[in-house]
Amino acid sequence: AARVRVHHLQQLKDTGGRFAMLTAYEQYSAQIFDEAGIEVLLVGDSASNNVFGHETSLPVTLDEMIPLCRAVARSTRRALVVVDLPFGSYEVSPAQAVESSVRLLKEAGAHAVKMEGGAFYADHVRAMVQAGIPVMAHIGFTPQSEHALGGYRVQGRGDDAERLIEDAVALQNAGAFAVLMEMVPAAAAAAVDRALTVPTVGIGAGNATTGQVLVWQDMAGLRGGRMARFVKQYADLRTVLAGAAAAYADEVRSGAFPGPEHSF
Ligand code: KIV
Ligand code: NA
Repeated sequence: AARVRVHHLQQLKDTGGRFAMLTAYEQYSAQIFDEAGIEVLLVGDSASNNVFGHETSLPVTLDEMIPLCRAVARSTRRALVVVDLPFGSYEVSPAQAVESSVRLLKEAGAHAVKMEGGAFYADHVRAMVQAGIPVMAHIGFTPQSEHALGGYRVQGRGDDAERLIEDAVALQNAGAFAVLMEMVPAAAAAAVDRALTVPTVGIGAGNATTGQVLVWQDMAGLRGGRMARFVKQYADLRTVLAGAAAAYADEVRSGAFPGPEHSF
């Protein structure tokens, strides 16, 4: 099948269709999701937590994101590959956002970039789009601002729903090809989706967005520990891998592995 493009996502919005998005950070998961027909793969700055072992998304750098994105881009034939602008790589100015995004398309093979922030970043989006860089906006709960937002909290409750719509419209009018919303009430996300002509993507944002996204290690049950309410686990890879590792170790200790069939 041909590569998923930004205009295919727009067609889905226009016709009432939906699309699936998952994070990916390296070759095999990217290949598997691509072959499974996931339309959009996100090289998220959640690599900070899910690859590099940090507690938040703040420490990961642009230089660290580039090889991860390059691996995902090389490993897909069909999916649209979107990559996050990490914390510190765009806030200073539209020029900084363009320079960082150019590296992600030129050195890392991304097809589009995602950037956190509301209407304040409309000028950034405009500059990026003028440079030929498709931009997915990210509003609602924005993990890079978790210290300012006071932790992981639902955004856009009550009167804040109006601000969410204003942010989304400003980013769309600046040229964003899609708007992602994280941890907002389902009704607020639905109102944003109705207010926009471009597709929306949700994570913890109810069922009315054009697309949905999850972190793959959460969706597939690879990560342990507490899961957010918005996560659904479709597999239990942690148990599968732990079982494989324990069985291997047992057979090594008992001398059962390697057998004659594994030996020369
Ligand atoms: O980095 C990330 O994983 C994200 C999400 C929206 C899933 O930005
Ligand atoms: Na992110």
